[in-house]
Amino acid sequence: MNILVYGSGYVGLVTSVCFADSGNKVTCVDVDINKVKELNSGRSIIHEPNLEPLLDKGIRSKQLIFKNNVEEINHEVIFICVGTPDDKSGRADLSFVEVVCDEISRKIKKRIPIFIKSTVPVGTCTLMQQRINKSLSIQNKSFEIEVSSCPEFLREGAAIGDFQKPSRVIIGSNDAESINIAESLFKPFLLMQGKFIVMKKESSELSKYASNAFLATKISFINNLSIFADKTGASIEEVRLGMSDDERIGGKFLFSGIGYGGSCFPKDVKSLISQTRDLNLNSELLDEVEKINFRQIEYFFSLIKKNTNPNMILTILGLSFKPNTDDVRYAPSLSLIRKLEESGFKIRVYDPEAAESFKSVYGKKSLDYFNDLYESIDGTNAIIICTEWKNFLSMDITKIKSIMNGNLIFDGRNCLDREEFENQGFKYFGIGVNGGRVS
Ligand code: UDX
Repeated sequence: MNILVYGSGYVGLVTSVCFADSGNKVTCVDVDINKVKELNSGRSIIHEPNLEPLLDKGIRSKQLIFKNNVEEINHEVIFICVGTPDDKSGRADLSFVEVVCDEISRKIKKRIPIFIKSTVPVGTCTLMQQRINKSLSIQNKSFEIEVSSCPEFLREGAAIGDFQKPSRVIIGSNDAESINIAESLFKPFLLMQGKFIVMKKESSELSKYASNAFLATKISFINNLSIFADKTGASIEEVRLGMSDDERIGGKFLFSGIGYGGSCFPKDVKSLISQTRDLNLNSELLDEVEKINFRQIEYFFSLIKKNTNPNMILTILGLSFKPNTDDVRYAPSLSLIRKLEESGFKIRVYDPEAAESFKSVYGKKSLDYFNDLYESIDGTNAIIICTEWKNFLSMDITKIKSIMNGNLIFDGRNCLDREEFENQGFKYFGIGVNGGRVS
């Protein structure tokens, strides 16, 4: 099938390389000239496992091409994957989606299915469909199009696997032709597992927000209890184990830490809150989810402050919002480092992949960036874990002890083996596992 994808961000890029890999001809359009150049040479602009080999394969086989624009639309199906950042008020900014829809209405020559993969507020597919059809009518084009919803559930760091082996593909559509085309496009990825679910557009759009908001709620639930655990001497890790075997609850997304970040959860929770308020409905549950997420970093910060002094050198390990990505959007490390710097600490930072992206976002020259884990620890007074990268879990504890100037470890992801560190004389602080030692 001849596919046109708008946007080469996480969703658009992964969609493009995976559809090209499953035998389709894909044109991916992005306004960023440098990005398009890089991608056409087979180099990925983001750190995402298994993406680059597929990108390279697609470019070499000419199944995949990136362009800044297309002269005319002679494709069989369109996927809109452009960003929907939050505007200042917390609402999703739809201007990129609107620009793309206007371009489609100018260039489209016949009725073909259009899917919105971008995360958009409930009702957007219908609005965009009306917008395009109105423009088609003004241009005296003698056909109407259908805009359907096809939300994306991929996780950064596992995006290719999530696309190729989805838990479900949701299509929100009233149009049989769009549903059939989607079914045949996703069929190769649903052979082994995963459901193809067709529903109303509004349900599909809301399913995406509901999924992310629910996962964020799980995280905030356990994080809220983590402080309770610290005050009472319970261990939140044991509590998680105590809950996980109940199939109704499940153990996933119950890991306590310094909170969720990334390009989706913070933005989608905010957007769902504003959509809820716009309907004059009560958003208290999600308000609290968001508040707890902010509180978590405050809690960790105060734990560090109480157990250190501003003359100390602190080494932050992990800058990305989670492992296996260089993405630092809404990363808890950003606000923690800002607070620590403002309190006068000397900060060193190390991340296996995200140092460059962190530098461009944080923008302060005062931090000491390190390329080597052990060099960042050499002579430091305390280690602070913000991301659970694998190489932190296998650190040589004896070596760390010998090169560090102190014995303090603050584990913001509860990912280290506490006992091993304590056996070597470290003073370990986690989140919700401090056994009543902190107040
Ligand atoms: C998420 C959704 O999982 C995905 O389906 C959606 O389409 C996009 O948003 P992603 O942002 O890549 O994916 O990250 P995810 O793995 O879900 O983690 C989000 C955040 O939650 C991270 O900051 C992570 O550290 C945090 N998290 C996750 C916890 O704090 N505890 C947990 O138990 C799980």
